[in-house]
Amino acid sequence: METVLEVRNLQKSYGATEAVRGVSFELRRGEIFGMVGPNGAGKTTAIECLEGLRRPTSGDVRVLGLDPQTAGPALLERLGLQLQQSAIPDRMKVWEALDLFASFYEKSTDWRALAESLGLAEKFNAYFKNLSGGQKQRVFIALALIHDPEVVFLDEISTGLDPQARRAIWDLIFKIREQGKSVFLTTHFMDEAQTLCDRVAIMDHGRIIALDSPNALIQQNRGGERVELELEHPGADVGFLSAIPGVASVTRDGKRVEVRGVGGRLVSAVVRALDANQIDYYNVSSARATLEDVFLKLTGRALRD
Ligand SMILES: Nc1ncnc2c1ncn2[C@@H]1O[C@H](COP(=O)(O)OP(=O)(O)OP(=O)(O)O)[C@@H](O)[C@H]1O
Ligand SMILES: [Mg+2]
Repeated sequence: METVLEVRNLQKSYGATEAVRGVSFELRRGEIFGMVGPNGAGKTTAIECLEGLRRPTSGDVRVLGLDPQTAGPALLERLGLQLQQSAIPDRMKVWEALDLFASFYEKSTDWRALAESLGLAEKFNAYFKNLSGGQKQRVFIALALIHDPEVVFLDEISTGLDPQARRAIWDLIFKIREQGKSVFLTTHFMDEAQTLCDRVAIMDHGRIIALDSPNALIQQNRGGERVELELEHPGADVGFLSAIPGVASVTRDGKRVEVRGVGGRLVSAVVRALDANQIDYYNVSSARATLEDVFLKLTGRALRD
């Protein structure tokens, strides 16, 4: 598959702060690639180095075959950028912003249809300062897509959006992929990353600590399934659960038991083993592990920064 973006050993320091400590990956044509990570992990720094907005301390970045530091406006014509922090003058109306941004590019799409698909039709005449947080975010997404770019960068796409707007944006992103374009996004919503992304990089402390498809990350890191139950008798010995084929871990917290493992029949195997050993239990539930489980396992649960 064709590569549209290539990063080799990207590093970026701000004085003594090493925000990005050597990351390498590529983005393929027609791929939705997500970067996730705790606050301060270095996602915005990395994405803005790819966009040419920040100068890397070292490393090699190629976007559509060009170095974004030196490529100039010809490259920007082909990239769509939505930044984590953006601003439009308060006294500018929504339609004026869309019209103005469209005029910056040689190629432009029908911005009305685009903005309408993002639910902005009724706000064309509103001043930017009078939009709600989520409406502002929709404007920024429309501005990023207004010139039909080949590679789209979205830093925190759905922050502040209501569920309808999130879905509308997911649909838009899938449409962009259908057209053979590529999307690089960051998000704090693991369900979003799991649903949208072909591949996800988990970033922590400036490094990529895992990179694969969401399913592969889940399989590699947590086993596929989780079964939870409560024991009638907190003292009951359930050591035999660890011996069930496919079980990766059994954790006990008082009368609560959590079994993780692979294989679609984990829950029935657990229940059969409990019955065979005459252990009383209740509240059995079973769920597939999610990207959020993987994220918390790999980056820890403690709050940082
Ligand atoms: N312009 C700057 N000057 C100095 N330090 C910076 C600057 N921008 C970012 N940093 C620092 O670099 C580190 C990475 O920040 P960055 O914004 O890239 O993180 P992030 O992963 O995007 O976080 P978030 O999820 O909160 O958006 C942080 O420690 C931050 O304080
Ligand atoms: Mg950020």
